[in-house]
Amino acid sequence: MAAEQIYDNHGRPISYLRIAVTDRCNLRCFYCMPEEGIKYLPRKELLTYEELERLVKILVNMGVSKVRITGGEPFVRQDLMKFLWKLRAIDGLKDIAITTNGVLTKPYITELRELGVSSINLSLDTIDRDQFKLITRRDEFDAVMETFDLIVEHGIPLKVNAVIMDGKNTKDILPMTALTQHYPVSIRFIEEMPFNGEGAKYQRLTWTFTKIIDTIKEKYPNLTKIDDGDNSTSYNYHIPGFKGDVGVIAAFSRTFCGSCNRIRLTAQGTLKTCLYDDGVLDIKSLIRQGADDKALKAAFLSAFNRRPKDGFEAEQNRQNQNPISESMSTIGG
Ligand code: GTP
Ligand code: 5AD
Ligand code: SF4
Repeated sequence: MAAEQIYDNHGRPISYLRIAVTDRCNLRCFYCMPEEGIKYLPRKELLTYEELERLVKILVNMGVSKVRITGGEPFVRQDLMKFLWKLRAIDGLKDIAITTNGVLTKPYITELRELGVSSINLSLDTIDRDQFKLITRRDEFDAVMETFDLIVEHGIPLKVNAVIMDGKNTKDILPMTALTQHYPVSIRFIEEMPFNGEGAKYQRLTWTFTKIIDTIKEKYPNLTKIDDGDNSTSYNYHIPGFKGDVGVIAAFSRTFCGSCNRIRLTAQGTLKTCLYDDGVLDIKSLIRQGADDKALKAAFLSAFNRRPKDGFEAEQNRQNQNPISESMSTIGG
């Protein structure tokens, strides 16, 4: 039976669920958390795989057709592949995608292809080994590049996420764009957001998506706009003759809220209906108090009916943490 499609209070379909399966990470990217790390959740505070599977089933029945697994670093959590196969068995769930930093991912690439993963998004902010160490505070560049090569060899759709930071990796924009000449990958440059686990003292952003595009255009005047597809976070471009594409994600400027189909389950089991809200529903408590599927569905529906129209409204509505002080590692991006 086809699932019904639920729409939010602004007429946007809710069809894409992002799950942060852990808040732990084996890197310390400085735009995401402080050097000493964040205070990780005790394991019992994470939703179990069984709880997650149950929630996904409920949400698929409400119209979710795509799940993206994020973290923290998802492969830091044990038995992730077993969980992904459980998701694969859910009728109506079309796409399973994963966002990973690529450090531990290599041994799982073949199985991910067997699973039919619809895309792997690899976080890689620089292709300069020394710069990588400075940004991530770890020496794992080679492991990540090996993962990159293996994903390409396996023919799995690959998107590279590079958060662009003033004074850190703006010099990488052109060399990373040049990667698309020979690799059939999508390189996406992302505006930096204030989710760095430190409490945001957020200035105005220098490297906006327009500045990034202008930088690429200056070197490649024939940069051509291509179709973004529905509900895309990125504006996508192609350089004629190149194998891959480039994109920009206006994550801070928030230009794509009008078509936002995304909801999130954070590592601690909170529902976010916007990346910039501070959690609108404590799903974990509901489940652990014994809520049945009908009650969980009703709670979801009520949250979808109160969705802010965009990330600016969500930010304004924050109650607990204003200004933003979470780490992306807990939210899952
Ligand atoms: P696709 O599923 O391949 O379209 O990827 P995605 O862009 O949804 O996911 P990914 O995990 O690769 O995220 C890339 C960047 O976009 C990250 O920095 C995310 O935090 C950011 N991003 C994803 N969804 C949203 C969103 O709803 N709002 C904002 N502001 N940023 C988002
Ligand atoms: N601003 C923008 N993007 C971020 N990510 C992590 N922290 C930030 C931030 N502060 C990105 C990572 C990853 C994705 C899920 O979110 O690069 O690819
Ligand atoms: Fe959706 Fe909020 Fe992101 Fe806008 S800022 S696209 S509403 S999650």
